Amino acid sequence: MIKLKIPATSANLGAGFDALGLALSYYNYVEMEESDRVDIQSLDEMAVPVDETNLVYVSARDLFQVCGKQLKGMKIRQTNNIPMARGLGSSSACIIAGLVGANHILGSPLTKDDLVDLAAQIEGHPDNTAPALLGGIVTAVFDGRKVHWVKQEVYTKLKFTVMIPDFELKTEKARACLPKQVSHKDAVYNLSRAALFSASLLTGKLENLRTAVHDRLHQPYRMELIPRVREVFDIAYTHGAYGVYISGAGPAVMAIADVDNTYFSGKVRFSLENAGLTGWEVLDLTIDNEGTKIIT
Ligand code: HSE
Repeated sequence: MIKLKIPATSANLGAGFDALGLALSYYNYVEMEESDRVDIQSLDEMAVPVDETNLVYVSARDLFQVCGKQLKGMKIRQTNNIPMARGLGSSSACIIAGLVGANHILGSPLTKDDLVDLAAQIEGHPDNTAPALLGGIVTAVFDGRKVHWVKQEVYTKLKFTVMIPDFELKTEKARACLPKQVSHKDAVYNLSRAALFSASLLTGKLENLRTAVHDRLHQPYRMELIPRVREVFDIAYTHGAYGVYISGAGPAVMAIADVDNTYFSGKVRFSLENAGLTGWEVLDLTIDNEGTKIIT
């Protein structure tokens, strides 16, 4: 069996809807080998489909098909630390595990670029799948066939403190609430901030992040689906966050803070509890610059 380590991801980064994402130091593990039947188990309490609808399996089978091979079955063991349907790339982690694992099993017929493309075709957008594979912060444009991407490693003194509520928000629901059309003014509002975000993060002009995370394409609509989320934003800003945004499609909220803001997460946790927001877990993460690795 090979064993893969796949990072969680945070997509959109505020204004970069479907275009920007980064990998986080929070991991799923997947062991897999080819078999003559489908044999899937979760190694923790997280329930996963154990039949042919399992996303690791589906992705592995897609890769086999692309390479002209038929997959009869696979033995898969999953350890899922990344919570599902919270905006931290749990589906992308499964897709990337299936693709990278299957590609390795076949002797690596597909390149990294091919894997980025195939993952985006399965997921529909590249902002979680690309950083899950590549690590770092990834800027990606999916033209429907190919992904045009840049990965940049990040070595700033930042922590990414994620606040995760105890309820799920499925991406389909979080996308269904978005408007079909937006104004020219709102498009300009977003593209300028998305560009500002990566330039500021990578050059350390961190005071720009508070402006850069604002957007008019998805967060205002999704906030209506996440009870009391504005209070969560306010708490993180009160304790000195550089920027706060809905991670991916939500409902998790990401706060970017300085590593020298030593007690940031403790103070956020305390304030959330004081406000009666007891269902919110707070985790201190950093950027993962390596992406998915085969560890054994
Ligand atoms: N860019 C995607 C969205 C990320 O916001 O819907 C979630 O998969």
